[in-house]
Amino acid sequence: PPEGPPPPQDDTSTRLVDDADHPFMPAGPNDMRGPCPGLNTLASHGYLPRNGIATPAQVINATMQGFNMEFSLAKFVTYAAFLVDGNPITNLMSIGGKSDLTGEDPPDPATVGGLNTHAVFEGDASMTRADAFFGDNHSFNQTLWDGFVDFSNRFGAGKYNLTVATELRIQRIQDSIATNPQFSFVSPRFITAYAESTFPINFFIDGRQQDGQLDLDAAISFFRDMRYPSGFFRAPKPMGVEGIETIIAAHPIAAGANNGAVNTYTPDPHSGDFNSFCTVYTNFVNETIRGLYPSPTGILKDSLNRNLDFLHEFVSGCPQIFPWGR
Ligand code: HEM
Ligand code: MG
Repeated sequence: PPEGPPPPQDDTSTRLVDDADHPFMPAGPNDMRGPCPGLNTLASHGYLPRNGIATPAQVINATMQGFNMEFSLAKFVTYAAFLVDGNPITNLMSIGGKSDLTGEDPPDPATVGGLNTHAVFEGDASMTRADAFFGDNHSFNQTLWDGFVDFSNRFGAGKYNLTVATELRIQRIQDSIATNPQFSFVSPRFITAYAESTFPINFFIDGRQQDGQLDLDAAISFFRDMRYPSGFFRAPKPMGVEGIETIIAAHPIAAGANNGAVNTYTPDPHSGDFNSFCTVYTNFVNETIRGLYPSPTGILKDSLNRNLDFLHEFVSGCPQIFPWGR
């Protein structure tokens, strides 16, 4: 059976995380890196296995230790991603593309494709990665970075802060509406896009600084170089999606998608949103996960069910979904 999640950290104070035990080493040619600058950085410093293949417990521990991510959020995000992108039998997931190192695949239509897999967790309108429609949904994109810098200059006096996050979020959505005929912005992407807009502020600012102003040299160190700024201290307390309400409220837009042509964005009332988080959870389990695993049996079913239990702990106020019975 899959291991359970680790316990929370004992010590949640800020500390040097760019330390002697975790030196930066660039990824080798066979090491997996992907769309998440946080996990990429953790792998390049050895908080995660440097090859980018990790268990859920390793991901949870690394995000807590290396960035002071709040325990319950780390657990939820990790099991959500793991259930759609990881291998439930071997308990391994690639933080980038598909890898033989995650072991023998479960039957189709499961993909075990790693975090690069489009539309199950990774999605459109990312800040520094292009939409999958344009060909590469996971590499640092210089043009998008230039936009990140431009917005930080225009709205943040040269820093990425909550105002910049707010304006860049809606601009990335509007850009995708206008250029990507296959733009999709339904949950879970609808939720994760807003959450990820807060992460550079909550996690990439040095824990001794905490003025909410992310220096762009530090930002590019994470987004492009997958590396802590020299001597970096993690956040001063466990952090999650602080600031997200501000971003959502400033430019409200309904979850939805383009209909195969640009500028045809149509709200999708079936998608859950921030006001119906149980629907987000229910659709994710009943549609996204069950779409990959229509009728698992044996160890595979047991492993999936165990991981579904861990996922549900975050949304314990929502009725638990048992897609294949108990
Ligand atoms: C984006 C996974 C934790 C920072 C992403 C994406 C994935 C992902 C799949 C791509 C989504 C997209 O933009 O389309 C995970 C998992 C985590 C985790 C499984 C486990 C807890 C973290 C942490 C940080 C972080 C701890 C910060 C230290 C970010 C940021 C983005 C992102 C800033 C947005 C990148 C962009 O829009 O260009 N993450 N992540 N993540 N992640 Fe993570
Ligand atoms: Mg993306």
